[in-house]
Amino acid sequence: MGNTSFNYFMPTQLVFGDDATLGLDGLIKGKSLLIMSDPFLYNNGTAQEVAEATKIDSVVFFHEIEPNPSCQTVDKAVALARENKVDVVIGLGGGSTMDASKMVSCLIDNEGSIFDYYSTGNKTLLPRKAQLICIPTTAGTGSEVTNIGVYTNKETHTKMPFASEYFWPDIALIDPKLTYTLPPHITASTGMDAFCHAIEAYWSVNSNPISDALSISVIKKILDNIEMAVNEPGNVEARNNMSFASVTAGISFSQTKTTGIHAVSFPLTVDFGASHGIACSITLPAFIRFAYAGRKSKMDYLFTVLGFSSIEDFAGRVEDIMTRIDLPTRLSAINVKESDLEHIVEVSMKAPLIHFTPGTMNQEVLHKLLKSIL
Ligand SMILES: [Fe+2]
Repeated sequence: MGNTSFNYFMPTQLVFGDDATLGLDGLIKGKSLLIMSDPFLYNNGTAQEVAEATKIDSVVFFHEIEPNPSCQTVDKAVALARENKVDVVIGLGGGSTMDASKMVSCLIDNEGSIFDYYSTGNKTLLPRKAQLICIPTTAGTGSEVTNIGVYTNKETHTKMPFASEYFWPDIALIDPKLTYTLPPHITASTGMDAFCHAIEAYWSVNSNPISDALSISVIKKILDNIEMAVNEPGNVEARNNMSFASVTAGISFSQTKTTGIHAVSFPLTVDFGASHGIACSITLPAFIRFAYAGRKSKMDYLFTVLGFSSIEDFAGRVEDIMTRIDLPTRLSAINVKESDLEHIVEVSMKAPLIHFTPGTMNQEVLHKLLKSIL
């Protein structure tokens, strides 16, 4: 390692293990609890089981979180939390619920609506008072260990990330058992989202030696385990490895942010309805080949450590795995046509993340990259 300097800040307490949820009562610091989840986790009783484990008497449930949470939904949950004088918020679910819980826990004691702080809003968040605990039920998003939330403004049809120093959860509780019942297509798409987090952190212009070490171990773990987790949903070892890979990838990209893959995923989700995992992984093999030009020696090190003979060998393996777990690698699979590329490029280039991609990235280059995988 040559001369290097960096700053690493990850203030979230990590609690990991099968049945970790059962120890929640020892972690809670409050008396009035809001459990945020989605209709599925509420209707199958998971939200209620988590509530019981906290041993708190005053509990309210908000279970209306939709995929790509809207600002309007966040405001609705804030009203419920304020009304009940909530001092502990649990975000139970995938990235959507955890992202929403970050903003809700802050707004309980910050006046106004999400729109006053996000997008064109000009208020600044003051410190969060409520305790925030994030509990992922998928293995992919890593939101439980980042200070970023992504929200969709339904009126302007835009999806943009928002970062705050008060968004770091106090506790990330990862109980791999919660992922055992995930259906194969969710295991596949969320698992490859984690892969994108790891490799984007690795090639990012913001990478550092710690995020590099974490990313390499995540990439290996996912290559070795994702097919097993998809094909054998009850395989405890594969599930544990995927949960570990997901949170580790989160810790890695919490420092570096993501890059072009995630920038392009925003219009693919908003305008083509692709889930976050698919909207990211669909361009992954193309971005691996692209990033090689801008990060040659680092990418050479990565594939050599992992036992691949060339970048094509590595990108080809990623593509093969994706095909075997039924994930698309062509944009036509989500109904993107050549005439749509100009719009996708324009929106993607506005996301600051795009500029963390290594190498030369501009409208023309991105258009060419996307055209190659139509
Ligand atoms: Fe992601």
